[in-house]
Amino acid sequence: MKLFLDTANVDHIREINGWGILAGVTTNPSLVSREGRCMRDCLTEIAGIVSGPISAEALSMDTEGMVREAHELASIAENINIKIPMTSQGLAAVSILAKEGIKTNVTLVFSANQALLAAAAGATFASPFVGRMDDIGNRGMTVVEEIVDIYDLYDIPTQVIAASLRHPMHVTEAALAGAHIATIPYDVMVKMVHHTLTDIGIKRFLEDYEKIKDL
Ligand code: E4P
Repeated sequence: MKLFLDTANVDHIREINGWGILAGVTTNPSLVSREGRCMRDCLTEIAGIVSGPISAEALSMDTEGMVREAHELASIAENINIKIPMTSQGLAAVSILAKEGIKTNVTLVFSANQALLAAAAGATFASPFVGRMDDIGNRGMTVVEEIVDIYDLYDIPTQVIAASLRHPMHVTEAALAGAHIATIPYDVMVKMVHHTLTDIGIKRFLEDYEKIKDL
């Protein structure tokens, strides 16, 4: 499973990219607005840091507007793919963009049937939002598991991005479910590094080495 960062914060992207583990980035209008930056400038800077796929969201609600925005966003850098909302107008846009060779990420997916439609339209990625389903009392990871099983069953090339992840267990569960990608908030990525026993182990090794370093 590839690890993406779910943020528009360039400092966080630089830091995690420095770990050598970052395969891509997903953004959305809420994440960019949190940075208080213009969308295009922000995406241009991210594209200068990350060589893997970067998702940028189209905001029009009609097919023609989505396709126009997709052309504008895709012109920023060749690794930018276009987030298209899971609507009938969005499916039509995905289908047009797929024929043009522009990669898409169908976003706001909350069911296996929506993921089937996204794949049939030619989406490169489909993003089930796990945390938002958990928030309303439905187990979000069950939808990820269903989508992965269906895509596997029919050799569907669309890749599943487990999105809206809220804690490290979500990442483990997404990996066990067979998601191709997990897009992870910065704070969750940092939590994944740490383990109390690792910290205790390092401390003990350093203390023991102190006892013998002058021998
Ligand atoms: C994914 O592409 C979305 O940007 C993100 O995961 C949404 O997460 P949220 O539900 O925490 O806003």
